[in-house]
Amino acid sequence: MVNDRFRDASPQEILDHFLRKYRGEIAFSSSMGAEDQVLTHMINQLDPTARIFTLDTGRLFQETYDLIDKTNSRFGIHIEVFFPERKKIEQMTIEKGMNLFYHSIENRKLCCHIRKIEPLKRALRGMSIWITGLRNDQSVTRKENGLIEWDEVNNILKLNPLISWSTEMVWDHIHTHDLPYNALHDKGYPSIGCLPCTRAVKPGEDIRSGRWWWENPEMKECGLHKK
Ligand code: ADX
Ligand code: SF4
Repeated sequence: MVNDRFRDASPQEILDHFLRKYRGEIAFSSSMGAEDQVLTHMINQLDPTARIFTLDTGRLFQETYDLIDKTNSRFGIHIEVFFPERKKIEQMTIEKGMNLFYHSIENRKLCCHIRKIEPLKRALRGMSIWITGLRNDQSVTRKENGLIEWDEVNNILKLNPLISWSTEMVWDHIHTHDLPYNALHDKGYPSIGCLPCTRAVKPGEDIRSGRWWWENPEMKECGLHKK
């Protein structure tokens, strides 16, 4: 098993292997979360030309946009930005309203599909490896994810170099290297997505409990990462 081969390897060793082997066919999707900032730093040290992209849903926090600019300046890079298809957004909001996601799970999934899943598909076109910042202890839905997985939706190998890292390890790395991070993390937001679908959590609450807080925790995935 490929997963066994890398059992004792550090994220840097894993990234180094894949960035070399799949040069030009590997891309990292960053939501600008804490894990993503760690990975941007590691990837930038190993191969500053590697592709890093973010999906701008059009509903992100101002703090997230600030962080995109800050991160670009810090590393001297240009994170690629993918937008949803204009016509689909227009049609969806005219038919179902601007805040459709609060009205039903079906609406919420439609919005995530148009604003995230379709742009992700476009961003990954022609790639063989998709790097993400997934971790097992982020939520109940992510306990079973592995270091390397096959993603059936996008027909691509998905690499999760921080899969076994704890929250403490992520923040140690950020502080040790003085990496820029989202200002909302200091205001009670451990996991940050779109503004209307993310709220602060209380100390001790689950990391992702502030995401789509009105939905059942067992079901809460936007579809980027299938269970
Ligand atoms: S989500 O599916 O619930 O939104 P989460 O915010 O935990 O995911 O992020 C997990 C990983 O999914 C990130 O580390 C990143 O690789 C990818 N991801 C999530 N949202 C985005 C985004 N807007 N742009 C790019 N990648 C994203
Ligand atoms: Fe739409 Fe909310 Fe999904 Fe963002 S997280 S794409 S606003 S439903």
